[in-house]
Amino acid sequence: MSVSNLLLSFLFLFFSLVSSSNTHRCSSRQSQALFLFKQNVFSISELYNYNDGECRAWLGSHYYPIMMNWNTSIDCCNWDGVTCNHFTGDVIGLNLSCGMLRGTIYPNSTLFNLPRLQRLNLAFNDFIDSQLPREIGRFSDSLTHLNISQCGFTGQVPSDILRLSKLVSLDLSSNGVSLQLEPHILEHLLQNSTFLRDLSLADVNIGMVLPAYLNISPSLKLLNLSFTGLQGKLPDNIFNLQYLEKLDLSYNNDLASRLPEVNTSTSIPLKWLSLSSTNLSGEIPHSIGHLKSLNYLDLSRNKGLSGEIPYSIGHLESLNTLRLDYCGLAGPLPKSLGNLRHLTTLDLSSNMLNGSLPSELFALQSLKRLSLTQNQFVGKIDVLDQDPISQSFRHLINLTQLDLSFNNFRGVWELGALLSSLTALVELQLSHSGLSVVTNNGNHYVNPDFQLLHLASCKLKVFPEFLRAMKKLQSLDLSSNEIHGHIPDWARKIGGSELFHLDLSHNFITGLPQFQWGGLRELHLESNKIEGPFPPSICNLSNIWYLNISDNRFDGVIPQCIGNIHSSLWIADMGNNYFHGSIPNAYKDCGQLQGLILNGNRLEGEVPSSLSNCQYLEVLNLGNNLLNGTFPSWLGDLPYLQVLVLKSNKLHGPIKTSSAGKAPFPCLQVLDLSHNGFVGHLPRKYFQNFIAMKNVVKNDTRATYLNTGGMYYSIVVDVKGVEQNFPKIFVDYTIIDLSSNRFESEIPDIIGNLNSLIVLNLSHNSLTGRIPHALGNLSEIESLDLSWNQLTGEIPQSLAALTFLGFLNLSQNHLFGHIPEGKQFNTFEGNSFGGNPKLCGLPLPEKCERPHEPQLETDEDTESEFIWRAVTLGCGCGTLLGLVMGYLMLSTGRPKWFNAIVDAGEHMIQTKRSKRR
Ligand SMILES: *[C@@H]1O[C@H](CO)[C@@H](O)[C@H](O)[C@H]1NC(C)=O
Ligand SMILES: *[C@@H]1O[C@H](CO)[C@@H](O)[C@H](O)[C@H]1NC(C)=O
Ligand SMILES: *[C@@H]1O[C@H](CO)[C@@H](O)[C@H](O)[C@H]1NC(C)=O
Ligand SMILES: *[C@@H]1O[C@H](CO)[C@@H](O)[C@H](O)[C@H]1NC(C)=O
Ligand SMILES: *[C@@H]1O[C@H](CO)[C@@H](O)[C@H](O)[C@H]1NC(C)=O
Ligand SMILES: *[C@@H]1O[C@H](CO)[C@@H](O)[C@H](O)[C@H]1NC(C)=O
Ligand SMILES: *[C@@H]1O[C@H](CO)[C@@H](O)[C@H](O)[C@H]1NC(C)=O
Repeated sequence: MSVSNLLLSFLFLFFSLVSSSNTHRCSSRQSQALFLFKQNVFSISELYNYNDGECRAWLGSHYYPIMMNWNTSIDCCNWDGVTCNHFTGDVIGLNLSCGMLRGTIYPNSTLFNLPRLQRLNLAFNDFIDSQLPREIGRFSDSLTHLNISQCGFTGQVPSDILRLSKLVSLDLSSNGVSLQLEPHILEHLLQNSTFLRDLSLADVNIGMVLPAYLNISPSLKLLNLSFTGLQGKLPDNIFNLQYLEKLDLSYNNDLASRLPEVNTSTSIPLKWLSLSSTNLSGEIPHSIGHLKSLNYLDLSRNKGLSGEIPYSIGHLESLNTLRLDYCGLAGPLPKSLGNLRHLTTLDLSSNMLNGSLPSELFALQSLKRLSLTQNQFVGKIDVLDQDPISQSFRHLINLTQLDLSFNNFRGVWELGALLSSLTALVELQLSHSGLSVVTNNGNHYVNPDFQLLHLASCKLKVFPEFLRAMKKLQSLDLSSNEIHGHIPDWARKIGGSELFHLDLSHNFITGLPQFQWGGLRELHLESNKIEGPFPPSICNLSNIWYLNISDNRFDGVIPQCIGNIHSSLWIADMGNNYFHGSIPNAYKDCGQLQGLILNGNRLEGEVPSSLSNCQYLEVLNLGNNLLNGTFPSWLGDLPYLQVLVLKSNKLHGPIKTSSAGKAPFPCLQVLDLSHNGFVGHLPRKYFQNFIAMKNVVKNDTRATYLNTGGMYYSIVVDVKGVEQNFPKIFVDYTIIDLSSNRFESEIPDIIGNLNSLIVLNLSHNSLTGRIPHALGNLSEIESLDLSWNQLTGEIPQSLAALTFLGFLNLSQNHLFGHIPEGKQFNTFEGNSFGGNPKLCGLPLPEKCERPHEPQLETDEDTESEFIWRAVTLGCGCGTLLGLVMGYLMLSTGRPKWFNAIVDAGEHMIQTKRSKRR
């Protein structure tokens, strides 16, 4: 032992003795610095901490205000989260992550007065509006680890951060896009740092154009640049970075490139790679098989990736996760997948993969999560097959999640047999897979922890007995099956309070138990044959946001207790039942209600006035009832109302448009008041204010439908002379139907300003005067019905210019003179004009005596200035929708299959629209 070592030992002993006595090791300066820092950011309230949920999930009971015991009468080295050097007493580590800190860090913060600080971790706290001060550079001699992720820092990261030359780990992630970093700082960090091993800049706004050749320092092992707005192409050498072990470039949608080839000459240490959502195109190169160290590979969400999954993928024998979901891959699965013996997650959902499943797939006994949903796989798959070599999911005994939905498989699955083999399974989705499901109700083992069971459209005939055992079920979809009769009484407790999604729609169910699903958020019972009164249990569902009991045989009155759930409901659809009595005036607490459908019942009385509290209402459909009273003009004050259907009721009287000063109905795009007893003038003031029916900018690339949290609305409207069912409502489809009332006097010119109107039906009224020339401005109109009125004068020539007009009915009026010629007019037949004895010219048999002269067209156009002003103000109808939808996606995690339906629908519409052009 050398002398100096001996000396050190003595010193150590000395300091140990000192610290075991009550003397403070921590210098009073550093103690003071920390204490002052505490005074700025100490909070004992978890309220408003936006990281609260995450911290609670992460730390459980160890989540507390970490600075609670920071008290100057105690040595600061004993404060929670503080680490000192044993010898010198210097503070060298501060770990305050999830410490419930809250406040602003200013450049003069005493935090920077800790000259020997090596590790600083402030992650998961609230430093909202703080900028990272230049003073961070003061730690240049000491700091090795800096973590300020999820802290709410904003502004530019100062280049002083480059002075931290000893950094080993730097984490600036998840502060949101308002934290920015200059590209040159990133370049320097990548290339010139000597010790930096771990760099995480996820979510930092960098926006750098990636160089064709990426140069990184040999020290760097882990690099996370996801969500950083990177641009340009993937560097050619991205797979040949000799030192990197983990690379995350996901969610940089402005990148656009093909996957570069993998250079085969060296061994590549890359273990973890995500290029999810980076706008990749072309095929996956065969050479990807050289990335032999990979255990995690995620190329998901690159719709441009095409071709087949290369056979060489089977060379990646260390893979435990392979994600190729939401790409454009086609062809069959390569047999080589069977080589991936360590694979636990395989997600190939939402591609165009086809063929039958290779038997090799069933050798992957390590698989835990398998999703093949939304592909075009075919072939017969059996579960009961006892032959060990034959295809069977029963061999994948470690599976916890299996999703085969939306494919074209064949086969009949006895579910009990599957569930008793796959004892770890907690999620099973076979909806629309082509497979039929039977249950023999034997006494099979069922995993009591089962969470999600989706068996829509599986030809299921009974309500399965094994559900009894699923005491923690969260999501159950048995829709579109052939389940008959009463739901058994034991079902009232399925999942207990865990069940949040239940879909029994489109069956032949006649009765329900008195259920106790207190946690239910979505209840779909539509299209069954359920009889009896409104289930009182519904009034206890205090978390429910979606309720659909439409198309059943419910009768009796809607109880007042439904008011209990209006504060949580977003959509309530009770249409097409036999409810009678009045609509409960119970909308006092109507926080979020966006869609209320009571269409097709026998409801009486007035439209309940408390609906005026439903400020977020977008769709109100009370059509086909027996409602009386006058027009509820106060509905005009609902700022987001887009669809108002009051058709086929007994409403009467003139439409008074005196809504308290404001512009009424700013978002309305569908108004159906047909088949009532309204009298007097057409509501001119409303026509003036229907901003959402003017100058609508249509989106031809992506059709959008009115929805609330991904749930669509349907309406039945009289279009082109027939009742048409719209299963979804386009956001840019506009309709006014005031037909079959007793409106009188003239059609106001101003209606011509609604230039985005597609359907206008004023038929079966007592309208007089001429057809306004201004109707020729309805350049989008497809269906125009003015029949059965007392209109006079000539048909304005301007109507002949309406390119999309596919249906015109002017019959049964007192029109006279020439029928205009040209364009669409040449396609209409006699019945468009019949019952006007003085009309002449084709297509009517009566020839005109005088040759055709263009008539004098004299409509004033004084309103146009107003329109433009109104449009620039805008009504912002769409914005709310988007926000709401995002929120719901997060909070309920809509199943993936849902997107498929939407995509398919959009595709159909696109075709329809392009035809129109
Ligand atoms: C500091 O700790 C001492 C001893 O535990 C206690 O008596 C004192 O009240 C504390 N001071 C503060 C300000 O919390
Ligand atoms: C920092 O604190 C958190 C929360 O108490 C803990 O989970 C983590 O392990 C700590 N980190 C270090 C490096 O001690
Ligand atoms: C630190 O700076 C902030 C903002 O500039 C200021 O409000 C505060 O008084 C300063 N604190 C001290 C101790 O100087
Ligand atoms: C890295 O260091 C080299 C040599 O000191 C220097 O020339 C280069 O500009 C530095 N790179 C960056 C991005 O700062
Ligand atoms: C199945 O999972 C268990 C527990 O996680 C594990 O021990 C076993 O090795 C797995 N089986 C296979 C074939 O991977
Ligand atoms: C409206 O309907 C209610 C309930 O059927 C009835 O009591 C009332 O007399 C009706 N009012 C009018 C004006 O018809
Ligand atoms: C149409 O929708 C797509 C996708 O949502 C969007 O990117 C595009 O900007 C929209 N175009 C118009 C004209 O609004």
